[in-house]
Amino acid sequence: MFNYEIVYMKKRILLSLLAIILSFPAIRAQEYTPTPENLQARKTFQDNKFGIFIHFGVYSMLADGEWIMNNRSINYKEYEKLAGGFCPSKFNAAEWVSAIKASGAKYICITSRHHDGFSMFNTAQSDYNIVKATPFKRDILKELSEECQKQGIALHFYYSLLDWYRDDYPVGNTGRGTGRTLHENWPAYYQFMKNQLTELLTNYGKVGAIWFDGQWDHNSSFDWQLPGIYDLIHKLQPSCLVGNNHHLTPIPGEDIQIFERDLPGENKAGLSGQDVSQLPLETCETMNGMWGYRIVDQNYKSTKELIHYLVKAAGKNANLLMNIGPQPDGKLPEVSVTRLKEMGEWMKVYGETIYGTRAGIVSPHDWGVTTAKDNKLYVHILNLQDNGLFLPITEKVKKATLFKDNSQIKFKQDKNGVVLYLPEVPTDIDYVITLEM
Ligand code: GLC
Repeated sequence: MFNYEIVYMKKRILLSLLAIILSFPAIRAQEYTPTPENLQARKTFQDNKFGIFIHFGVYSMLADGEWIMNNRSINYKEYEKLAGGFCPSKFNAAEWVSAIKASGAKYICITSRHHDGFSMFNTAQSDYNIVKATPFKRDILKELSEECQKQGIALHFYYSLLDWYRDDYPVGNTGRGTGRTLHENWPAYYQFMKNQLTELLTNYGKVGAIWFDGQWDHNSSFDWQLPGIYDLIHKLQPSCLVGNNHHLTPIPGEDIQIFERDLPGENKAGLSGQDVSQLPLETCETMNGMWGYRIVDQNYKSTKELIHYLVKAAGKNANLLMNIGPQPDGKLPEVSVTRLKEMGEWMKVYGETIYGTRAGIVSPHDWGVTTAKDNKLYVHILNLQDNGLFLPITEKVKKATLFKDNSQIKFKQDKNGVVLYLPEVPTDIDYVITLEM
C-alpha cells in the first residue's frame, strides 16, 4: 500500500470513530447546572456515608435472586401469577427502619420496580403492582416512606430502566426468554417511566435519590432520552439526587456516581473500568452474594469485613450502600439484622471518624486508609503486622492520639513524612489514630 493510501485510511477511520462518538447520546447531552438545594443534598449525601440497599419483589418468593425470571427464562404470563400469592405478612416498616437505623446507616434505597417489571408501589400506570395484583394489598413504599420520615432517615428509590414484562419495552440483551409478544413502543414505554417517576416523586414525600439501573441492556447507540427523565426529577424535587448504575462515567444530569461491587478505582468484579468523577461516589455491595433473597446463600460477610468495606469506601471518598434481600415473608434475614446491629455498635464509637469526612491526604494502602474532617486526619489501620507506620505527610502534625482511649501516640516528623510509634501491633477491627494538623 502507498503511503498516501495509509494516511487516507487512517483519516477515514478517525472520522468514523468521531461520528460514532458524536452519536452517543451521553456525549451530545446538554449542560446541567445543579440547583443550590441539589448541591446541598450532595454534601449531605457524602456526609451520610452509609446506606442500606433493599432488593424486594415477587422474585423474593422464588428465593434465587432478582434475576430468576431471566435466568430460568420464565414465561411472563407464568411469572405474573407470582403476584397472586405475594403476601409478605410479616413486613413491618417500623421493624425494618429500626433495624437499619441501628446499623448507623443514614439512608435506605429500595427497589420500586426491578427488571421483572413488578411495581412495589401503588402505581396508576399498571395494575401489575403490589396493591392491585396481590392479596397483600399494601403499598410497601408508602409505609416505608412514612416510617422513614418518622424515624428520620432518608429514602431513595431504585428504578429499573429495562423491563422483562412489558411488551412496549424495546427488548434488549436480557429477558429474551420471557415469551412476550412484542409490540415495541418506545414513546409509550418512555411515557410510562416518566409517569411512574412522577408518582414516586409526588406521593412518597421527600425522595433522597433515584437510583437507575439497566441501561446496559442496550448498547451505546440506543437513546434512552435520559436528559428528559433527569430534568423531570429535578423539576419535581430539585434536591433529589440522580444516580445511574450504567457502569460508565456520569453524564450531565447525574448527581452521584455509582460503582457496583467495587470501590472507586478498583475493578475486581469487572463492572468498574470507568473514570472516577468529581461527583459524590457510592459503591454498592451485597451482604451475602445476591441482591434479591437467595435461600441457599448463607455466605454472609463477617461484621469485620463489612466494617472494613465501609472504612475503605470512606477512605476512597465514597459512600457504601450495603444490600439486604428480605425474605418472602417480609422479614429481614436474621443474620443481616445481627450484622446491622454489630456495625451500629462500631459506628457508635467510631462514627466520628466516618460521618462527615472526606478521603484523607494519605491515599489508600494495604495497611488501611485515611479520612479527614476539619483539622483532623484519621488514620484507619486495618491490616498491619508491625508497630511502626510511615505516612508521607508534609503538613505539620501537632498531636497524635489513639482514637479509642485518647492516649498519646509517639511520632517523629521530618521533611519526608511522619513515623508513628504504636504501643502495640494493632489487632482491633480498625485501629484509629487521630492526627491533629
Ligand atoms: C446489577 C443487577 C441488578 C441489581 C444491581 C444492584 O445491575 O443486574 O439486579 O439490582 O446490580 O447494584
